[in-house]
Amino acid sequence: MGPVDAHQLLTISEVVRRSGFAASALRYYESVGLVPATRTGGGQRRYERAVLRRLAFIRAARNVGLTLDEIRAELSELPRERTPTKADWSRISRRWRGRLTEQIAALTALRDGLDSCIGCGCLSLRQCGVSNPRDAVAAEGGGAGALHLPALVRRQPPLGR
Ligand code: FES
Repeated sequence: MGPVDAHQLLTISEVVRRSGFAASALRYYESVGLVPATRTGGGQRRYERAVLRRLAFIRAARNVGLTLDEIRAELSELPRERTPTKADWSRISRRWRGRLTEQIAALTALRDGLDSCIGCGCLSLRQCGVSNPRDAVAAEGGGAGALHLPALVRRQPPLGR
């Protein structure tokens, strides 16, 4: 993001109000390099308006299940790590759609595996479809590596609302 008239900059409370993210999340995202902020002479944070679009992107990424590292990697692929444009978003969202499809398939396999657990209790690392969903899916023709546990199942969501 280039230089901007100071009157166009947003305070952290304005960004909180307009984005719905907590101030602590904004500070954290800045500390990990996801959301840039400048400082006034008095040390107060100021944000360019484009940060709102960047935060919308981060929220969408979180909803899809991306980790902060994955979000950072997505943004780093954009020239000068700019805020995603409409064209960037179209390309990225198409890719995420595929990811969601995989997650839905993984969750479906997990649910189906759980069906066989009801009334069983073996918790076999070899046979239980929930303890070992990768093998369960491979056995159904999904192939080794076709399944990874959905992000919503295997990860804590990143910080923020
Ligand atoms: S507990 Fe036996 S199959 Fe899952």
